[in-house]
Amino acid sequence: MNATPAVRLDHVSKEFAGNHAVRDLCLDIAPGEFFSLLGPSGCGKTTSLRMIGGFADPTSGTVLLGGEDVTGLPPDKRNVNTVFQSYALFDHLSVADNVAFGLKRRKVAKAEIRERVGAMLEMVQLADLAGRRPRTLSGGQRQRVALARALVNRPAVLLLDEPLAALDLKLRRQMQVELKQIQREVGITFVFVTHDQDEALTMSDRVAVLNDGRLEQCGTPEDVYEHPASRFVASFMGTSNLVSGVYRDGEVRLDSGPALPVGRRDGCADGSTVSVSIRPEKIWLSDFRPGMPVIRGVVRETVYSGPTTTYLIELAPGVTVAALEQNTARSRMEDRWEGGETVELGWEPEHCLLLV
Ligand SMILES: Nc1ncnc2c1ncn2[C@@H]1O[C@H](COP(=O)(O)OP(=O)(O)OP(=O)(O)O)[C@@H](O)[C@H]1O
Ligand SMILES: [Mg+2]
Repeated sequence: MNATPAVRLDHVSKEFAGNHAVRDLCLDIAPGEFFSLLGPSGCGKTTSLRMIGGFADPTSGTVLLGGEDVTGLPPDKRNVNTVFQSYALFDHLSVADNVAFGLKRRKVAKAEIRERVGAMLEMVQLADLAGRRPRTLSGGQRQRVALARALVNRPAVLLLDEPLAALDLKLRRQMQVELKQIQREVGITFVFVTHDQDEALTMSDRVAVLNDGRLEQCGTPEDVYEHPASRFVASFMGTSNLVSGVYRDGEVRLDSGPALPVGRRDGCADGSTVSVSIRPEKIWLSDFRPGMPVIRGVVRETVYSGPTTTYLIELAPGVTVAALEQNTARSRMEDRWEGGETVELGWEPEHCLLLV
């Protein structure tokens, strides 16, 4: 990253009564980036966001915005705006007045307020509802008012704490696309908190995965999905088959079962016990042909879910993996495997990852 980061967290920690909510977090977020903080409930996402926004002070470490140390400065002295999960709209004001609120407080000229509010309402497709009260709007519309109200101030950084969590799945998907489009249009740095992996993968330029206050991995969606750095990331990001065995010569031998070809792992000593991770969609299946030196397993369950079918396959006693097949135009129902059938499994060794 060459430019001065829009946001830098430098060894930031936060304790509450001796409990660590955030531990030694270091992050650089680039200007214009759509950056997500992802992790399970209680991992420290909101606390991290609040420290960037100035709503909480770190116990130790430094927060920088645009290269300037802002640690200890109150929220209104920082060039950031926050969209809270609850939206926190003023119900006694119209949609337009909600959006105008920050500009009025900063005594921006009336004509400019009218112009900027009008343009912002166009952008979030609420121009027709400018005179309505927030309580008469749908969840998605309210969410857009909250977004417009923050964006109209043209902050350098916009902080969003699970802004889509209250929406039903379909509207949520639609708002994900809209939010991303708006972010591209305005070019403002977004720091977006979510505990939804799909949301983080589809929307972000980069994702930071947090676990128990610690940064587990930071990278592009493809990085964290295809090359998880830890067991935690592998199991938290989507579905992964995790099995353990003993590593030797590019293979991992299960206790009582086949040897699995795995990708290269520098520094992994022969004879060490390791975990491996393989995504269900990276496994290919074919009919069992006797006499071939392959990995085989017995289908225990066939789960049809529309565009895909998942097979649960037992490789060894107590070791079951999921393998996923797309149901394409060419797939035929009668070609599906049933419980009890023996199948062959294969994969590119690089897709079977050794984890620490
Ligand atoms: N004001 C507080 N006082 C004491 N403990 C707190 C406070 N705020 C947060 N915590 C604790 O810090 C940890 C991190 O909380 P945080 O709200 O950052 O999690 P989160 O990742 O946003 O979770 P969620 O997905 O549930 O919103 C939790 O264990 C929480 O109980
Ligand atoms: Mg939270």
